[in-house]
Amino acid sequence: MKPIARIPYGKQHIDSNDLTIVKQSLKASLITTGSYVLNFEKKLKKYLGSRYALSCNSGTSAIHLAMMAAEIKQGDNIIMPSVNFVASGNIAKMLNANIFLADVDPLSGQMTGTSVEECIKKNKLKKIKLLVTMYLGGYPDNITEFYNLKKKFNFLILEDACHALGASYQFKNRFLKIGSCKHSDIAAFSLHPLKSITTGEGGVVSTNNRKFYEKLKLLRSHGIVKNKDPFNHKYNVKFSGLNNRLSDINCALGITQLKKIKKFITKKKLFSKYYDNIFKNITGIKLGHSQLNKNISAWHLYILIINFSYFKTTRLKFMKYLYKKNIISQVHYIPIYMHSNFKKLEKNYLINTKSYYDRCISIPLYYDMSAKQQNKVVLEIKNFLKIK
Ligand SMILES: Cc1ncc(COP(=O)(O)O)c(C=O)c1O
Repeated sequence: MKPIARIPYGKQHIDSNDLTIVKQSLKASLITTGSYVLNFEKKLKKYLGSRYALSCNSGTSAIHLAMMAAEIKQGDNIIMPSVNFVASGNIAKMLNANIFLADVDPLSGQMTGTSVEECIKKNKLKKIKLLVTMYLGGYPDNITEFYNLKKKFNFLILEDACHALGASYQFKNRFLKIGSCKHSDIAAFSLHPLKSITTGEGGVVSTNNRKFYEKLKLLRSHGIVKNKDPFNHKYNVKFSGLNNRLSDINCALGITQLKKIKKFITKKKLFSKYYDNIFKNITGIKLGHSQLNKNISAWHLYILIINFSYFKTTRLKFMKYLYKKNIISQVHYIPIYMHSNFKKLEKNYLINTKSYYDRCISIPLYYDMSAKQQNKVVLEIKNFLKIK
């Protein structure tokens, strides 16, 4: 019996060019630390418009490397959004930094300049080492506001741009790519299968700071400084690092995937606009992204903000109904402080976080989604919520 085709909330697209290059990479004499890695990184920095781009084996590694390059240490104060994937929080905690959560906008689920200032005030922070920003769903919001705060409070900015490879933001009369780091110090991307492009697993760190880059290169490979003389066996371990390298096989896939990023994003934007038109005027539903913002999204997720009590139901019942109809939905994200690992974090001033969390739901959005599949998603949502 043929298995029932599920409609996932996100999925990679792999074509014959991807298969060909991966096969080629396997025939190279070096299948790690080889030419595909260098080539991929060269293409990435050109695409992002940054001086340096470094591949690594996950978005989590990218954030970890970035925080280590920024020399985050015990007692440093780090501000991050209350709604986020847990990677930044876990890493900050592993480095023994103090984590402070900033509230989010109730529709976009993203931190704002005002919520960051509020966090600083409520926690009476005098010295801040790092602000971690995150562009939920791929929509880059509030970048210049964060940059103004950076200047005011003198902190570093790490963009957790894991959702936002391919996104751009407006600055004066031009658009800058997320990862160009014109208004941040360092950016981290994920190349997980659900992200803008994939290398299987993988990540990227982007920066314009030479000191950071030199350190990132060493940290990615155990903190080892090689001997310049290839015949001299002596090397030195300068920092405590791990093996965060991405293989040539993965990077080969990254090269052909990167060529398709515009095509991927354009199609996902089309699907998103279709959803927008259907859901924008329905009482009880709001769109999880700004309609006015001129910034260019990577269209990673399509998030609806549904007032489930208005529809006399719960999100869990909604998700279960869709699941029974073979449609997968997801929640992005459970607020950080709700995880037992972070239960001690101050949360009293996080006024919008809970209302965002209670109402957010990500519905299917991926390159290979057919019109029939998208219509099925719309139909089943309307059926369950009894929308005419
Ligand atoms: C916002 C965010 N940060 C970090 C990560 C970690 O990326 P990876 O899964 O590649 O380690 C993810 C992954 O989903 C993410 O969504």
